[in-house]
Amino acid sequence: MIRVGPPGEEFINRRKELEEVKSSLIAGQSWVFIAPRRYGKTSLMLKLSEELKDYMPSIYIDINLCTNLRSLGEEIINAVYSQAGLYGFVQRAKERLSELLKSVRRLKLGDFEVELGLEALEEKDDYNFLRRAIELPEKTAERWNKRFLVMYDEFSEVVKLHKDVPKLFRSLIQFHKHCVYIFAGSQESMMKNLFVSSKGVFFKFARSLYLDFLEEKDCKNYIKERLKANQKEVERIVEITKCHPYYLKKLLHIKLTREKASLEEALRILLEEERHYLELLMWHLKEKKYRAEVVRILSCGENPYELLKGVIRTQQINQILRDLEFEGVVRRRARGKYELTDPLLALYLCRKYQP
Ligand SMILES: Nc1ncnc2c1ncn2[C@@H]1O[C@H](COP(=O)(O)OP(=O)(O)O)[C@@H](O)[C@H]1O
Ligand SMILES: [Mg+2]
Repeated sequence: MIRVGPPGEEFINRRKELEEVKSSLIAGQSWVFIAPRRYGKTSLMLKLSEELKDYMPSIYIDINLCTNLRSLGEEIINAVYSQAGLYGFVQRAKERLSELLKSVRRLKLGDFEVELGLEALEEKDDYNFLRRAIELPEKTAERWNKRFLVMYDEFSEVVKLHKDVPKLFRSLIQFHKHCVYIFAGSQESMMKNLFVSSKGVFFKFARSLYLDFLEEKDCKNYIKERLKANQKEVERIVEITKCHPYYLKKLLHIKLTREKASLEEALRILLEEERHYLELLMWHLKEKKYRAEVVRILSCGENPYELLKGVIRTQQINQILRDLEFEGVVRRRARGKYELTDPLLALYLCRKYQP
């Protein structure tokens, strides 16, 4: 069965990216991964962590799981201790300290490291607590005399917790000598403002990787191998999914688990299962006038300048396209040629409005 979830053996290629990022992480270079949702940022981070496990322990924090500054700090502390096999450190420390210490002895962790976490938990002020938590991977790595890989997933979400959090992160981690970082984010504009713009607080801190769809050649081999599909079917799957990792995996999964389903039937099921998600994307687009209209036109590969001639001015279309690109809804493939970043949304809209 094909797994739709964190990849292990089912990971498709990304070899070039993996090798480049891996060797530079080992050399101490931090990275930022930027791509729309479901392009495989998290999968790539987890794959890197797996492939680097003999070189450096890794700590993974998903900012999406944090609802406030304190919970972000707690996630970081838990992630540091789970690296040593001690899970749910914060909750266990809050509940029963003595049991925690017993399990720590079993794990043969030095008392020092535990003290660091417990000390941090005593901090009442949330901002200072987070400051201590951000320092914890570095302090622990120093005590272990190892380099740690620290991964912050969906980092653009931190500004929702507090606008100054990026600044706090940068002011602390710029002095970290034992940690190397990967930040990932789906909010392309926000990530660029933080990491790429010369005014961004992380300017020049990390090298950037913009993830695109998977390589067509690798996808075709994968489809052939998994599905025992003929050439025509392989081409059709590539045409539908554009080698978008999530949709490719999901379509194959549907096809494999429903043996009798034709490819078109599997596509219908995929569209049905994703309908709610796709409608939600469209719902956000409808907040501003003509935006949804431009997206619908692009989804069928048509030209908005031609179809909206006489309806709105060229400058307005330019602005809408710039906004959509800024928000990560469309990508410019060539001069004046835009395409939706979500290929299933394109297919869904095109079928809905041009049946
Ligand atoms: N390189 C890959 N090989 C195979 N499947 C992948 C790959 N990258 C992503 N996927 C699939 O796509 C899904 C979405 O990827 P994910 O890493 O969660 O994207 P993101 O973090 O960018 O939102 C994963 O659950 C996995 O099934
Ligand atoms: Mg992710």
